[in-house]
Amino acid sequence: MFINRSSIILTLSRQVLRTTLDRKPNLSLISNIRSRTYILGIETSCDDTGCAILDTNGNVISESIHNQNLLHLRNGGIIPDVAQDLHRRYIEPTVTNTLKEANLTMKEISAIAVTLEPGLPLSLAVGMKYAKHLARKFDKPIIPIHHMEAHALVARMQQHISFPFLTLLISGGHCLLAVVEDVKKFKLLGKSIDSAPGELFDKVARRMKLRNLFEYSKICGGQAIELAAAKSLNPHIFKLPLPLVDYKDCNFSFNGLKTAALLQLHRKEEEHRIEGDQLIPEYNDLCAGVLMAVTRHLVHRTQRAMEFCKQYKMIPDENAQLVVSGGVACNNYIFKNLSVLCEEMNYKIYRPTPKLCMDNGIMIAWNGVEKWRRSLDINMATDLQSLDIRADSPLGENLIPLVEKSRIRIKLLKIKLDL
Ligand code: KG4
Ligand code: ZN
Repeated sequence: MFINRSSIILTLSRQVLRTTLDRKPNLSLISNIRSRTYILGIETSCDDTGCAILDTNGNVISESIHNQNLLHLRNGGIIPDVAQDLHRRYIEPTVTNTLKEANLTMKEISAIAVTLEPGLPLSLAVGMKYAKHLARKFDKPIIPIHHMEAHALVARMQQHISFPFLTLLISGGHCLLAVVEDVKKFKLLGKSIDSAPGELFDKVARRMKLRNLFEYSKICGGQAIELAAAKSLNPHIFKLPLPLVDYKDCNFSFNGLKTAALLQLHRKEEEHRIEGDQLIPEYNDLCAGVLMAVTRHLVHRTQRAMEFCKQYKMIPDENAQLVVSGGVACNNYIFKNLSVLCEEMNYKIYRPTPKLCMDNGIMIAWNGVEKWRRSLDINMATDLQSLDIRADSPLGENLIPLVEKSRIRIKLLKIKLDL
């Protein structure tokens, strides 16, 4: 399934060109459009085959994405070999389609940005091999991209966000807090010591069998939990623990929450003698309990990161900014509670539009544009041997030991229910 989201932009730009030509051929306009510098971005780190072309002013020229979500929902999770097979099958049509939509050929592309780290090794390898093949065939440089850096920076494509800023990256594979000082200068303040919030949502939703309800049958677990939680009439009946309360750092943990949620689900299933495809009657309330617990944890760790940045003067008081990104940032309840925190702490809060929070080719091409403008990480086609994938790849300079040592105490912000 291809979604060419930028076809409207393209159609519009062609219309401008056509109307101008109808009146009087304007050759300088044509050559101006043709001489623009274009970056092609490729994303295959997990289960989406994404591609996009941006010009170096940050205009999205075209985009294609092949989403594997439905298949993985049916399989009960991502099976790496299956994801790789689908990337292999769709990488070429996705890239070809993106070029076609942009009305461009590979010759007119200036560089290829591709995700090389972190991610599923089998998936990453498909993107890297295809990017190298294109680079060698058409003599184009490759710009290697760190997937989490791309999540953080893409917010700058749509909004004016200056360096430095604090970022909270929440997805199916990661949970990170970092200060972004420049395009390639990240300082890591906290990370998950086990799983990620999106992974917890997906697992709990699957175990609750939310997919058996038609309205949740075709959406990811996180989105299903958000929608079901909004319908809860008794959001407090399931009490879930706040993780890592005794650790005065900015790290995260979601395994304890997951175990507690699954245990409560199991108890309710026993109590109601639930069988087969049935759901517990209180499924909305359990979703609310899980969502509130995750939100509380995310807000409190972010609050401590803000205090840390203040203490170490890492973020200017007069221009404090928080960027929330990654698939879980689509969650409005989480975002609204983070907005309350930002109001309290005098931060401005930003997040990319939902489709840019999720994995996509645009964020990779945008990171390529930001690096191109600064002449960073541009690897010529003749010199690609050293470029390789990295499944695990830490984000930036590790300041976690300093955060842990600082043991910053905070007066925890109360999470609002009725947002
Ligand atoms: O960033 P992303 O597209 O892929 C990774 O790099 O992991 O994030 C996907 C994750 C999934 O776990 C999905 O359940 C979660 O983002 N997600 C949400 C919402 N929409 C997507 N979680 C909570 N609320 C949502 N509305
Ligand atoms: Zn991601």
